[in-house]
Amino acid sequence: MVNYKDLGLVNTREMFKKAIAGGYAIPAYNFNNMEQLQAIITACMETKSPVILQVSKGARKYANQTLLRYMAEGAMQIIKESGTSIPVALHLDHGDSYELCVSCIETGFSSVMIDGSSLPYDENIALTKKVVDYAHKYDVTVEGELGVLAGIEEHVVAEKSHYTDPNDVEDFVKKTGVDSLAISIGTSHGAYKFKVKPGEEVPPLRFDILEEIEKRIPGFPIVLHGASSVLQEYVALINKYGGKMEGAVGVPEDQLRKAAQSAVCKINIDSDGRLAMTAMVRKELHEHPENFDPRKYLGPAREELIKMYKHKNENVLGSAGKA
Ligand code: G3H
Ligand code: 13P
Ligand code: ZN
Repeated sequence: MVNYKDLGLVNTREMFKKAIAGGYAIPAYNFNNMEQLQAIITACMETKSPVILQVSKGARKYANQTLLRYMAEGAMQIIKESGTSIPVALHLDHGDSYELCVSCIETGFSSVMIDGSSLPYDENIALTKKVVDYAHKYDVTVEGELGVLAGIEEHVVAEKSHYTDPNDVEDFVKKTGVDSLAISIGTSHGAYKFKVKPGEEVPPLRFDILEEIEKRIPGFPIVLHGASSVLQEYVALINKYGGKMEGAVGVPEDQLRKAAQSAVCKINIDSDGRLAMTAMVRKELHEHPENFDPRKYLGPAREELIKMYKHKNENVLGSAGKA
């Protein structure tokens, strides 16, 4: 059993409390490889932002769960050696079983998500409560989910979103004991969040549902998944240098800024990192076809990622300077 506290990690409880009181959101950035992790911690150290390092089941499979855990431990050591101190949580994204959550907790995660949102309501409650009962023994925090986002969540593909029903949230939180709740108010996973014609605005998030939820569970930490903005400069670079991503569109940053000022205290961003990295790799390989050293194209991709994460912390989530 690895105790996350021995690695210098923290759970999300204190982070969320401060974020709600301060009107900002903690960035939850996914990583699958070394360059992404380096970029996340560099950007968060340079902007003095708390951060949630997010690992999905797919990331564990891709990068190897043991290596990922040591990478996170290495990241904590780098932060310590730099002389800066920022709160860092290591979080399982979209855990789909009790066993997976237990395995993460045993290997040093400080926070887990159990995503029972595709299950019938009572089964979601039972599974979430089982994870909470285990996690809380080790002071690990748990995120649950109510409502379904459109897009792809691991292997679950939802054609349509089902907004969270505000009538359920109080009961769910009370019966499960979760520490935070992911809700569905119009965001969706991936790079194709809305079907809009050129020049058309994307539909606004359902702030009315969010407000209703906040009334039912005042001050309770709310999480937004599927919150990439699908930055058009990266989509344009990808298309320019041989990619094919027509119609890719995300959540406008001003809407996320508004959400961050509410009880939304964790904002999940994965696709924007994928886009920044892919755009720079395509550009570098196109402009320097003689390159065959991965450092020559992954290095610039990492630089661009740092720039993008700093921008999110400073201008969108408001987490810069809050460490
Ligand atoms: O919400 C899902 C995250 O973007 C993780 O994606 O399962 O492909 O690693 P993944
Ligand atoms: P995006 O696909 O919008 O980046 O969402 C990421 C996410 O919700 C991870 O859980
Ligand atoms: Zn998600």
